[in-house]
Amino acid sequence: MALRVGIVGCGGAGTEHARAYARLGTQVELVGVCDITRERADRLAATVGTRAYGALGLLLAAERPELISVCTAEYAHTEPVLTALAAGCHVLCEKPLAATVAEARRMVEAAVNAGRVLGIDYNYRHMPAFQVLRAEIGGGAIGEVVLAQISAHAFCYHHALDLVRFLFGDVAEVGAWVDDVPSRRGFPWHTPEEFLYVPSLSVAALLRTRAGATVALCASRLRSLEDTLLDVEVLGTRGRRALRGLPVNDVRPRRVEAWPPDPELAARLGSPVEPEPRFSLSHAFQASVAAFVEALLAGRPVPTDGRDGVAALVIDQAVVQAHRLGAHVRL
Ligand SMILES: NC(=O)c1ccc[n+]([C@@H]2O[C@H](COP(=O)([O-])OP(=O)(O)OC[C@H]3O[C@@H](n4cnc5c(N)ncnc54)[C@H](O)[C@@H]3O)[C@@H](O)[C@H]2O)c1
Repeated sequence: MALRVGIVGCGGAGTEHARAYARLGTQVELVGVCDITRERADRLAATVGTRAYGALGLLLAAERPELISVCTAEYAHTEPVLTALAAGCHVLCEKPLAATVAEARRMVEAAVNAGRVLGIDYNYRHMPAFQVLRAEIGGGAIGEVVLAQISAHAFCYHHALDLVRFLFGDVAEVGAWVDDVPSRRGFPWHTPEEFLYVPSLSVAALLRTRAGATVALCASRLRSLEDTLLDVEVLGTRGRRALRGLPVNDVRPRRVEAWPPDPELAARLGSPVEPEPRFSLSHAFQASVAAFVEALLAGRPVPTDGRDGVAALVIDQAVVQAHRLGAHVRL
């Protein structure tokens, strides 16, 4: 029996989720999509061959889905997540989990109480470069990580916070310097001041992990998305890895550096060898939605759940606090 799936929010992310479910074939059935802007729901439903609704309640009542993808705008995740969980659905929510840490914790608690899975779509984890880099670090290829430097475009600052945990483990302490005006973050609505999410200009944070590594994370609007979404350099006691030049439309590193030299590394990291097909953000959506569904169907823990959503928000919030206090913040 196919898993019955619905989507709430039919903008860019909702469309990516719909395409990703379509690629899963008979494993899932996309039973309906909904959007408060009804034309958006109609358009997406027509594209992917499903039914359209103007409200989540109508979709839930008519289609009885087992899984809901929440792809509403950043500030509007809480209500659809809680509604879907209360209706007995599992949920895959877009990032950031919520507009405040308190709301995010409420969602995690609701999922536990409902006995349902709450996943969060940190799809950057599913880019081949970061899958391989994590395996290399975990396998001891460069010894103990001492220092890492991540430089990101402001648009993926929040993803970069999650990648820090994915690659180096939990964060224990945070220091930061921020250049940000919340009203200038480029969103049509006022984003919360509790955390940065997408800094209006730049942020430089020092994150100390529980394992004792230091991560210098810089993000800025002044980077070029076309050129480099993210740069990562990792220094360990026995070696070094650097991934440079991941452009937004093909997120495979253009340059790979390794010490001791490793001629196979570029191929393992998925670096472009034309005429290979590119790995775009759409591919990252497909990979993360597929991994979530596979884990759910197999009864395994999903790759990233609500607690990962809370953890990223807690670090984001600590960065803002550290800057305001002019002092390190312990988590
Ligand atoms: N993981 C990624 O790489 C990635 C990339 C892009 C966007 N996102 C995330 O996806 C989410 C959506 O972003 P987007 O760019 O698709 O936004 P969008 O504005 O294009 O689409 C959001 C849609 O949700 C609808 N909506 C809002 N409240 C609703 C409600 N209560 N019920 C039904 N529909 C509702 C809006 O009408 C709109 O059509 C955001 O959280 C964003 O951060 C993630």
